[in-house]
Amino acid sequence: MKIAILGYGKMGKTIERLAIQKGHEVVLKISNSNQHELTKENLIKADVAIEFSRPETAFHNIAFTLKSGVPIVSGTTAWLEKLDEAKSICKAENGTFFYSSNFSVGVNIFFAMNRHLSSMMATHLQYEVSIEETHHTQKLDYPSGTAITLAEGILENLDRKSRWSGVLKKEGVGTESFPKEAIGIVSNRIDPVPGSHSVKWESEIDAIEISHVAYSREGFAAGALTAAMWIIDKEGVFEMKDMLGF
Ligand SMILES: NC(=O)c1ccc[n+]([C@@H]2O[C@H](COP(=O)([O-])OP(=O)(O)OC[C@H]3O[C@@H](n4cnc5c(N)ncnc54)[C@H](OP(=O)(O)O)[C@@H]3O)[C@@H](O)[C@H]2O)c1
Repeated sequence: MKIAILGYGKMGKTIERLAIQKGHEVVLKISNSNQHELTKENLIKADVAIEFSRPETAFHNIAFTLKSGVPIVSGTTAWLEKLDEAKSICKAENGTFFYSSNFSVGVNIFFAMNRHLSSMMATHLQYEVSIEETHHTQKLDYPSGTAITLAEGILENLDRKSRWSGVLKKEGVGTESFPKEAIGIVSNRIDPVPGSHSVKWESEIDAIEISHVAYSREGFAAGALTAAMWIIDKEGVFEMKDMLGF
């Protein structure tokens, strides 16, 4: 498989290393310094593009790649106000677009557990739910895209919450300060944590906590590469549950 890597940072470099190990070829690498090389002529040399860049550049990269007729997998977070527009461009172009806020298979199993636990908790009003996430200090956005997906999974299943509310721990605010109708998300930024998430359900007499801890970026990179191979002969908009079946 010939791959264009859009965003040659920590994730882009991990994807390149794994891709070469698996016998794929990287034919284009785009970062901030060589954005001008993101042309249709260069893109069409690739069978698929994998995009892990920055919130302010993701939409342009995705739209341009779709308009160039090249399938694209993206994992960039914190640009999702334009996700529906990107999906519309994909449909209009009869293109292929796979987005996930988290490409780790383990995290997607965790998402399914979270939805199931939330539906069980719907009738157990004594439990208060909260989310905590920790990432390295270079992560620009908070809460993480993964924490937001966890919150959305809870909101789908729990009538007593209507929104989520996030805070950075260093601001010195605790979960107790979140409004009653909101799922509190506390974000920590500690080096060199690749990504840890937990969901806690607490009553006055006990607590149930589920968590996922990534040991490295490999799981995200491997998932993105698997998604890239999976979409190559498909058309449409896809997410992890289409590929994994849950
Ligand atoms: N979905 C998932 O599973 C998952 C997992 C991990 C991370 N992420 C997300 O993926 C994104 C990237 O993470 P990272 O850790 O790799 O960040 P990073 O190390 O900061 O890399 C971002 C890269 O994007 C490049 N860039 C800047 N402008 C660009 C443009 N116009 N076109 C293409 N590339 C451009 C930067 O180039 P310069 O170095 O030249 O500035 C940098 O190399 C973040 O949004 C992060 O939250 C998602």
